[in-house]
Amino acid sequence: MIHAGFEPDFPLLWIFKPLRIMDFAVEIAKLKKEKNAVILAHYYQIPEIQDMADFIGDSLALARKAVETNADIIVFAGVHFMAETAKILNSSRKVLLPDISAGCSLADACDAEELAEMKREFPDHKVISYVNCSAKVKAISDIICTSGNALKIVESFPKDEKILFVPDKNLGGYINRMTGRNMKLWPGSCQIHDILNAEKVLKLKIAKPHAKVIAHPECNAAVLEISDFIGSTAAMLNFIVQDSSQEYIVATETGILHQMQKLCPQKKFFVASNDETCPCNDCPFMKLNTVEKLYLCLRDESPELVLSPEIIEQARKPIEAMLRLS
Ligand code: 13P
Repeated sequence: MIHAGFEPDFPLLWIFKPLRIMDFAVEIAKLKKEKNAVILAHYYQIPEIQDMADFIGDSLALARKAVETNADIIVFAGVHFMAETAKILNSSRKVLLPDISAGCSLADACDAEELAEMKREFPDHKVISYVNCSAKVKAISDIICTSGNALKIVESFPKDEKILFVPDKNLGGYINRMTGRNMKLWPGSCQIHDILNAEKVLKLKIAKPHAKVIAHPECNAAVLEISDFIGSTAAMLNFIVQDSSQEYIVATETGILHQMQKLCPQKKFFVASNDETCPCNDCPFMKLNTVEKLYLCLRDESPELVLSPEIIEQARKPIEAMLRLS
């Protein structure tokens, strides 16, 4: 049970308890029904939010779900670019984000004006943008990809096509190495993946010699080099279900461990961390969303994600191109 406010320290204040305590899970379920709302959550959300969601997924699955839903309101428990993608794909729905300041270090690394300038400099290059970018960047891209389909999207272009890959240099570098291509890479990275250090992962591997290292492709090349499996959040979950190992070192955001433990309760998972004091790797933006904010945004129908019709129109084309291919 999750309760609003704090339990009062002073015993006399317990008299007000019935007025202050609210079961968010029950209230959220009521509001969802009343307002015909759906909660979509990313695997990096806190466990309580994941458990309240109607659908949990990686960014590709969430984009697909946003297209399909008939709900009047989409509450997107994730970060800003994900809620934007939902709005672009289903613009007649109201899209809410529990904390509107839940951004993304990768998306912030690529400014649409700078990309427009780069396009002018390299007019013969196709722009493939990783979904972790702003709607304005999407609007001037040729096609979008996610970590779940990046390889397929890039390989859909002829081998000699000149490509500018935006904004994740780590995912782009990984695709270059996998395909033998030489895409130009925008110099962006995700702060929680890029910070992971291969030496620290190896130290953990020495301490847990039977554990396989599984990594998200947003990790730097040195971490990917020592990984046994590389894939999107959904691909990592599939892997641990099908693989016979009993222990894993997980090089991505901590939130995914909730689903891993649920899917394989008998297995052990260790988060690759750069923090000596904490076995965790939390995205500060993903973790801005709380159950209380989720409740309030559904109750007040705010904060709402708003985009101009022009941006929606322009950004939808490269996202739909991706969905057709994947
Ligand atoms: P996925 O596409 O694997 O869900 O990754 C999303 C993300 O933002 C990783 O940092």
